[in-house]
This record gives sequence, structure tokens and C-alpha cells, in this order.
Amino acid sequence: MFDDRVFSGVQPTGNLHLGNYLGAIKNWVGLQKDYETIYCIVDLHAITVPQKPENLKVATQEVAACLIASGIDVNSSILFNQSQVPQHAELAWLFNCVARLGWLNRMTQFKEKAGKNRENATVGLYAYPTLMAADILAYKATHVPVGDDQKQHLELTRDIAMAFNSMFGESFFPLPEPIIKKTAARIMSLRDGASKMSKSETSDYSRINLNDEDDLISQKIKKAKTDSEPLPDNIKALEERPEARNLIGMYASLTNQSENTVLLEFSGYGFGKFKPLLAECVINTISPIRNEMNRILSDKAELNRILVDGAEKAASIADPILASCKRVIGFVQSVE
Ligand code: TYM
Repeated sequence: MFDDRVFSGVQPTGNLHLGNYLGAIKNWVGLQKDYETIYCIVDLHAITVPQKPENLKVATQEVAACLIASGIDVNSSILFNQSQVPQHAELAWLFNCVARLGWLNRMTQFKEKAGKNRENATVGLYAYPTLMAADILAYKATHVPVGDDQKQHLELTRDIAMAFNSMFGESFFPLPEPIIKKTAARIMSLRDGASKMSKSETSDYSRINLNDEDDLISQKIKKAKTDSEPLPDNIKALEERPEARNLIGMYASLTNQSENTVLLEFSGYGFGKFKPLLAECVINTISPIRNEMNRILSDKAELNRILVDGAEKAASIADPILASCKRVIGFVQSVE
């Protein structure tokens, strides 16, 4: 009943890292050939925690350059920054009046980000998932490629769509499906196999940024936490070894193989032997992205033009959807 349409987003809160790339962006690139694809740099989400204006601007341009350098083709995908399409924020308000406090109270990302000082968190951080639902449903998107950490927000998006549909018309919104790649669903920190690789982690050695120089990548992998056991020949044997499992997952994802296939090849290897091979793989993927990103960033005017152009295309899809949403709610509008 709904045409297939892919939507996804990424926050401009610093450099993109290997977790973003393997968990989401690589997938975004692959989906372009089979789907209508809309990709958004979610700057309205970024300001749910304080951002310095000059940093926000640079990060937005860097993320845009990084996405294009990673293979997002702006002639076949729509690429834009969220704040240029006001329909997102307007639909989010409508969803604030559909979503229940109880639903938002369950969100683990809010709990993690707000930390102990919850009273001091912004209202925006709390309402973040209703804006995310609006991002997706403003386009009636049917598929959302994300990493595993966004699964709960996707479930909430489906709950909002279902609640809206039962209030205003059975099949108004689709119930979007997450697309989560199994091998790279959650790339973990290089310093701690129990926490995910993240832009907000203080140690830069916990992650590989997509603009890291080759030498730095080698150093980071060399210093990555591991254990002294050799690699086994199957993934089940790595259940209690999260750091080792993480590095195998990275290698598998970078080389488009299953983790078991990788382990069959490297079974018996110690990390002293495996890490340089992994580093080589990471460098082979990242170094062309980094070089292309720097080239794209040398023409900011062109980059801004691409985002304005993408925003116009995005608004032309979202605007009639928002208008029909407002009509079914009962708002008086100029065009009836
Ligand atoms: P963000 O900016 O944190 O991350 C962007 C994408 O990268 C994935 N990701 C990871 N995947 C695997 N391992 C990791 N360590 C890792 N870290 C991040 C995320 O799952 C995500 O897919 N709320 C979203 C942005 C957003 C959005 C949307 C996404 C806003 N509106 C609508 C989809 C649809 C976020 O903060 O992603």
C-alpha cells in the first residue's frame, strides 16, 4: 500500500566513526540502487545537548562531505540538513500530542544521555524520539537503515504511527521497518568491549574516525584492548571475549564476510599477527574516504548548495504529507 522509501539520519556532533560507517552508512550507500533514499543530517537533534554554533556549522559540513565521500550519490539520493525542512519540527509537535509520557520514559538513550542529573536535561532531549518519528514519517518512509542502538526509537516510531492511525484513519502512516546489518549492528569501543563506539566517548583512542590519518589508525588498532588467547575457529567461542569479538566483527564487515568465515581463516592467530591485518583493512576503506572528504570540503559553497537543493526536494515530499496530516486532525487550512 505504501511505496518503498528509505529514510535515515545522522547527528552532526563530531566526526563520523567506524561504527557509524559499518553500522549505518555503508548500508545507506548499498540501498541507493534499489530504493528511493532520503538521508538527513539531523542538526535539530544535535542541539538537544548544548552545541557551540561554530562547531555545529563545521560538523554539519564535515558530515555532509563524509557521506558524499562514503558513496552517497546526491543525484540519486536526497541529502540535506534537517533544520532547512521545517516540516520535521512541525510534525514532531503533532506527535508530541500522540506519544505518551510512559512511552518516552522507557527510552534507554535518554536515560544514558541525561545521566544522573536528569532535572537538568533539556525538554528536547526527552522529546528526541518524537522528532525522530517525525523525520521518518514526514516522508512515509517504509525502511530505516540504522545500527542496533536505534532499534528502540524505531519501535516508538511504529507505536506513534499506530496510535495516529487508530485516531485518524487506519492506514495513514506506514509502520517503518528497521534494516539492521547483523555483523556490524553494534561496533564497540576499542578500549572497552562492553560499551559502543561513540562520538561522545572522551578518549579518542576508543574509536576510529573517518578522517584519521593512516598512522593513527594503525596505532589505535595496535593499542586496542584484547586478550592473550589465540583466535578460535568459531564465533560461539568468543562469547566471553567481547573485545576479540569486536575486532573480528569489524574485519568481517569490512571484507563482507561472515564472522565464522573470518575465524576459519585466522584460527590460531594471536592478536600481534591479526591486528596489523585488520589495520590494513581499515586503512584500505577509510583512506579514500578521508581524501575525498578533504577534497569536497575545499568547496564549502558547493557543499552548502547541495544541502539547500536536497532540502527543497525533501520539503516537496514532506509538505503535502504534513498538510494531509493537519487536515485529518481538523485544523483549518488555506487549501481545503
Ligand atoms: P547517530 O548520529 O548516533 O548515529 C548514526 C548511525 O550510526 C549508527 N551507529 C552505530 N552502529 C554500529 N555501531 C556503533 N558503535 C554505532 N554508533 C552509531 C546509529 O545506529 C545510526 O544508525 N537518533 C539517530 C539519528 C536519527 C535518525 C532519525 C536515524 C535522527 N532521526 C531517523 C534514523 C531515522 C542517532 O542519534 O544516530
